[in-house]
Amino acid sequence: MATYEIMLPGKVCFGVGSLDIIGDEANRLGAKHALIVTDPGVYKAGPVDPVKTKLSRAKVSVDVFSKAEPEPTLLKLDAAAEELSQGSYDLLVGVGGGSSIDTAKGLSVLLAHGGKGRDYIGINKVPGPGIPLFTIPTTAGTGSEVTKAAVFDEPETHSKLGIQSPFILARLAIVDPTLTYGCPPKLTANTGIDALAHAIEAYTSIKASTFTDALQLEAMRLIVGNLRAVVKDGSDKEARNHMAEGALFGGFGIAHAGGAAAHALSYPLGSRFHNPHGLLVGLLLPHVMEYNLPANLPKYAKIAQMLGVETQGLSPQEAAELGITAVRALAADIGIPLRVRDIGVPREALEELAGATMSVTRLLANNPKQLTLDDVRHIWENAW
Ligand SMILES: [Fe+2]
Repeated sequence: MATYEIMLPGKVCFGVGSLDIIGDEANRLGAKHALIVTDPGVYKAGPVDPVKTKLSRAKVSVDVFSKAEPEPTLLKLDAAAEELSQGSYDLLVGVGGGSSIDTAKGLSVLLAHGGKGRDYIGINKVPGPGIPLFTIPTTAGTGSEVTKAAVFDEPETHSKLGIQSPFILARLAIVDPTLTYGCPPKLTANTGIDALAHAIEAYTSIKASTFTDALQLEAMRLIVGNLRAVVKDGSDKEARNHMAEGALFGGFGIAHAGGAAAHALSYPLGSRFHNPHGLLVGLLLPHVMEYNLPANLPKYAKIAQMLGVETQGLSPQEAAELGITAVRALAADIGIPLRVRDIGVPREALEELAGATMSVTRLLANNPKQLTLDDVRHIWENAW
């Protein structure tokens, strides 16, 4: 039996109304001056208001930085740190999707230790605790609220680089599904399929454990049972609540077993052909599953079961293949493109994409099948 370790934020609070604890938790830390880090879209849509109000009621003064951008770059992170360096904040609160939360993680390091974002790229490069961080997702997808990684784009090299350190784990992650109720359909679809990819990639990762497996199977069931519903009707609160919990479980999965090849392929694609992270991962997921399938047939057959496929009387191969069909059908139903060419990528770009994928070693290392450059070329070709 494999050994495993579990590394989570100091506290994780899930449930409708869980945001209510934020004031007490900020007081418990002795916080006096908080900075909410969010993006312009989330700021306009409203979920920042209750966070601000509850902190103010707890006598914590609050500033808002609302310039986090989708697919944040290291340059923008450095600029934000420079702009905020005189703020003397004792609490950062990331409110939004993965980009806002990752920006908040980066700022927690830079405002505490100085330097540039580039200095902390890699594993365990952060020298000590950052400014205490609360993470509050407003989409059901990212998982970043519970991970010890923050990903930044470096446009000059077309690469996505990660700060990975236990020191960027949140003191508190609050997953209150009510904050996702207003999430528009496209964003709901993109982030929801990302959550499914987290569950499937973590479940089939070579770092998977009994701990992550238990959570990922439940994540798949929750996501597949509710994703179509929330995209079709965003006011379906019960479905939203289940999606938020499924996405949180997916987050526990990537935090401990990691993402794998679908995420690895999405990084060079995202830096060259800008599209939302979830959309790209969702597009690539069935193609990667197809390629990975022989590496762990029993697990891919189990995935089919969790996705609602009637597998009785089928061989593991047949069941596993139907699982991939189910992922494709779900992606198509919620408007995720199925082929790389559908998002305007020319065939000539595939060779460069394949080469760049090979440098995403951190994620490829988790893949159930160890992929050579030729394997990766094939996946890109099939996905095109
Ligand atoms: Fe993801």
